[in-house]
Amino acid sequence: MHLHSAEAVGSLVTPIAPAEYRSPSHVRLSPFREFLWGAAYYPEHGERATLDIDVDRMRVAGMNTVRMAEFAWDMMEPADGRYDFSLFDEVIARLGAKGIRTILCTPTAAPPRWLTLKHPEILRVDARGVVQQHGSRQHASTCSDVYCEYSRRITRAMAEHFRDNPHVIGWQTDNEFNCHFSEDYSAGAEEAWTEFLRAKFNDDICALNRTWGTAFWAQTYARFEDVPLPKPGVPTCVNPAHHLDYARFVSWSVARFQHDQVEILRATQRRWWITHNGAFRLIDYRGPFGRDLDVLGYDLYPMSVWDAQDRGARQAWMLDAIRAWTGNFFIPEHQSGPGGQTDFFHDNLEPGELRRMLYTSIAHGADGILLFRWRTARFGAEEYWCGIFDHDNVPRRRYAEVAQVGAELARVGPALLGTHVAVDVGIAATDFDNTYGHEALNLGLPGPDQVAAELHGSFWRSGYRVGVVHPSDALEGLKLYIIPHLSLFDPAWLPKLESWVRDGGTLIVGARSGTKDLDNNVVTSPLPGVLRNFVGANVVEYGRQNRPEQRPLEIKVDARKIVSDAWYEKLEPETGTDVWLRWASRHLAGSAAATMRTVGRGRVVYVGTYLTGALAEALVPEFSRLAGVEPALPSLPGDVEVLLREGQGRAFWFVINHADGPRSVAVPSGRDLVGDHDVSGTVVLPARGVAVVQLPAPR
Ligand code: GAL
Repeated sequence: MHLHSAEAVGSLVTPIAPAEYRSPSHVRLSPFREFLWGAAYYPEHGERATLDIDVDRMRVAGMNTVRMAEFAWDMMEPADGRYDFSLFDEVIARLGAKGIRTILCTPTAAPPRWLTLKHPEILRVDARGVVQQHGSRQHASTCSDVYCEYSRRITRAMAEHFRDNPHVIGWQTDNEFNCHFSEDYSAGAEEAWTEFLRAKFNDDICALNRTWGTAFWAQTYARFEDVPLPKPGVPTCVNPAHHLDYARFVSWSVARFQHDQVEILRATQRRWWITHNGAFRLIDYRGPFGRDLDVLGYDLYPMSVWDAQDRGARQAWMLDAIRAWTGNFFIPEHQSGPGGQTDFFHDNLEPGELRRMLYTSIAHGADGILLFRWRTARFGAEEYWCGIFDHDNVPRRRYAEVAQVGAELARVGPALLGTHVAVDVGIAATDFDNTYGHEALNLGLPGPDQVAAELHGSFWRSGYRVGVVHPSDALEGLKLYIIPHLSLFDPAWLPKLESWVRDGGTLIVGARSGTKDLDNNVVTSPLPGVLRNFVGANVVEYGRQNRPEQRPLEIKVDARKIVSDAWYEKLEPETGTDVWLRWASRHLAGSAAATMRTVGRGRVVYVGTYLTGALAEALVPEFSRLAGVEPALPSLPGDVEVLLREGQGRAFWFVINHADGPRSVAVPSGRDLVGDHDVSGTVVLPARGVAVVQLPAPR
């Protein structure tokens, strides 16, 4: 039997280099040296019986990796302290013998029954006070000291057992932290909350009272122990500062739980890399949680219940959002068939759609993909969550598509690694503080990510190379950067933004940006607060635009008057700042709606309204014109997606047809790695067809 040596397996990933990994960026590369391709595999569900057939089929499909054991704690520790890894030892070895490596998971999303019986205090409690019961998953509290101890114990036992197994290449922590819910009002959570607040406020309860403004509605606290875990709507409005610190607390507590596992894994075997499969509520993936990982994983389920017309744009948004948190990413679970759970069952993926989805994922930065799941389970809550194979294990069109992609990946995968997604247009979104700051008190306005997703969709549909970029990230390479509505604006973001604008960038800042401090309280300086000098304008009046259809507030864009549908600000430019757009109706007629200030070789535009609806559609081409940015390729059909991955002297154009019929696209000359032939001029893609055109190396 041929076994890979530990060195050979270790060389598939870059050895851990913490300093490099701890600064996430949308252009950061993944640690993989080989494109990981495979499936989530569940020997504990009976797949051991078909293992030989499965492995052969994996090989035919070009697969090299499986992920296992995330819900198998009951198998691996059937009784307290008694371990049995034999099932996984055998399966890992048999897979490994055929060149399929394993990613293992810490199994803490589903503790075994002996543990919940012995320690019922580890169970989570919901906001109604209901103790969660055994029989589903995510029922244990990541705040419970007892549970943390058991988590460390099973992690250590697994790590030590598999330390020298050459086929185990990396780890996933837990499974989708906060996937079903994030709330926890157990005694353990209360204690952890007190600990978090004490540390945050240096043991000074007066500092908490001042920071949260507890003088409002008689909230003043005498001791940290008296501060409740907030329950939204119980009985009514929450304190925005209290709510934001609660969000930070949940993220902190999950990161702490994960960190224990990460520390054990890293200390046990240096060559392992570590990931987690997100992304869910109340976790700051750009913060310590994500910085503890070598690469963030993202479970991609573009949910085919959505209108087929929207699936492409949604998938693009989801993937770009994850890239903003981690750079190139891993997909530990990629939808492979319709999913059915509780009361829904997705549309079947149309022929070719799975392959199209896979290429969209790769184009947006996936450096490894495992399909969920190899074979559909015959029992349990997900017996209709379809994998590559149906219950009868007969290969059908899903497997045929997977095998086709596998064959193509033999060419595409190695060529792509080391490249990142290059975008012209960046949109600021998915900032943790702003997401939860807005949630606490939203005035009926759409959230910052909702607006960003719509803007992203407009650029995406018009064929621009658009991505999500956090304001603290590297902005090099962007021509246009839009910060829609980040109320909590960290002044630390300003110097980089200013120097990027000075070097020629076009920055668009939307209404309500800079209105709050980092505690989620309103600033006392004239608006837009810390941004005022940079944008060179003052907000002298603001208001909600309710019922825009009755008394519309309009903005003049060229000769058109476009309705602003959510919010208005009347602006006064300072000396040296120009009026870019004016209001055209009601009491605002003639006053400034948007201003523009030249800074160095670039410009900063402040738009005193929400970038939503018809106005956003009208402004996208205006912003592009200002920044001199063009769609990725000329005369692009609206249903064809184009992305560029480049780096290390290589460049690849992904051309992906989302339509039901063929589309012709003018592409640069090069070699289509998917079709394995040269192209020049025009390619004709069949329905859901793709081309990955590698440009000739520059001489
Ligand atoms: C993910 C989860 C998997 C499975 C899948 C399909 O959220 O990690 O365990 O539940 O969805 O529902």
